[in-house]
Amino acid sequence: METNAIRVGLLGLGCVGSGVIRALTRNQEEIERRAGRQLRIVCACARDLEKSRDCSTEGIRLTTNPHEVVDDSEVDVIIELMGGIEPAKELVLRAIEQGKPVITANKHLIALHGSEVFAAAESQGVNVAFEAAVAGSIPIIKNIRESLSGNRITWVAGIINGTGNYILSAMEKEGRSFEEVLADAQRLGYAEADPSFDVDGTDAAHKLTILASIAFGIPLSFEQAYREGIENISADNIVDARELGYRIKHLGIARRTEGGIELRVHPALIPHRRLIANVDGVMNAVVVQADAAGAHLYYGAGAGGDPTASAVIADLVDVVRTLTTDAENRVPHLAYQPHALSDLPILPIDDVETACYLKLQARDRPGVLAAVTRILGDRGISIEAIRQRQSMNGDSGEGVPVTLLTHAVPEAQMNQAIVEIEVLEDVLSSVQRIRIETLG
Ligand code: HSE
Repeated sequence: METNAIRVGLLGLGCVGSGVIRALTRNQEEIERRAGRQLRIVCACARDLEKSRDCSTEGIRLTTNPHEVVDDSEVDVIIELMGGIEPAKELVLRAIEQGKPVITANKHLIALHGSEVFAAAESQGVNVAFEAAVAGSIPIIKNIRESLSGNRITWVAGIINGTGNYILSAMEKEGRSFEEVLADAQRLGYAEADPSFDVDGTDAAHKLTILASIAFGIPLSFEQAYREGIENISADNIVDARELGYRIKHLGIARRTEGGIELRVHPALIPHRRLIANVDGVMNAVVVQADAAGAHLYYGAGAGGDPTASAVIADLVDVVRTLTTDAENRVPHLAYQPHALSDLPILPIDDVETACYLKLQARDRPGVLAAVTRILGDRGISIEAIRQRQSMNGDSGEGVPVTLLTHAVPEAQMNQAIVEIEVLEDVLSSVQRIRIETLG
């Protein structure tokens, strides 16, 4: 072993772990010229050592026991790619306790327990780097935390779950079923171990929690994030949206308002002309609106072995460089100094104001649309567009589809209107609401 080599222990040899080994091998010379040190993975832990892998593990000591990697006195730095809370949390804290910097792609862990992990790291004077936790290959943490530190950030909006975007895009372009596309995403290594996290907004909410914290200097607030998934988006909604000049995307939005911070993940109609509306497949994109810089759009692969490995290795190089810097002079984990986090409240979803797309089935009879629009009018909700799509056979008993676009309205007001519309005798379905984000 070279005398100045940094010795790395790898926890997890799945899709991303293999990507890290491949890139470190393939680009060894380039990476070491940047880091100023040699980098060697000396041991790695995997659940199944017999499994065939897409990388060479020659020269790497393999074990099924992650504690052996963390406790190995020859290991200087830990890369955690196991995912989930336990045992990842215990192992990360144990590495920190031993003064070992940690690089992790674990958004779940950071969103829920980041405060505890960073406090431990700060007290030990070690770094915990987590660029790979948000938006795969896109260096969004570094950009918000460092490159935009001269700005007051107003809002951040992103497509930050590759699997969800892959599903919506394939449903739209190829007319394939939800289940079929999800199975593809799992095979390609995009999906979470629990794929419901991709579909129900949990994974995006983990990432949004982290982005909001570094953008606004607030504590990690995952429990207060509003989450809505893409399970109920139908091919019909997608066609409807397109005909009205929009595309449906699963968005994470964090916005600073006078009353507090909006923190929400849900499907949204976005005007077709916005660049972010045209981000397809497993690609991610994040728009950051900042007062001096204006709007920035970051775009790149948001999941998969090689793209995520790119972010992990960038963190590894940063960590290696900081090993020679005093702990107090390093970039703070959540961008702001730990004592300088603000206590801005996270707004309940009822207080959030958005325009809406509403979809319902109604009997095709005189006065029905008037009754619906009267309820909206009485609630002070202004309508931007209304459309009743006539079926060729008229109303066959299931009613006809009615689509409405409204102007911006507080969520609580819209909820009341929806309840009133749903009890109308001639309204035959529940009212589906998808929020509209013009991102202007
Ligand atoms: N399941 C995640 C996604 C992986 O699809 O975006 C990357 O975090």
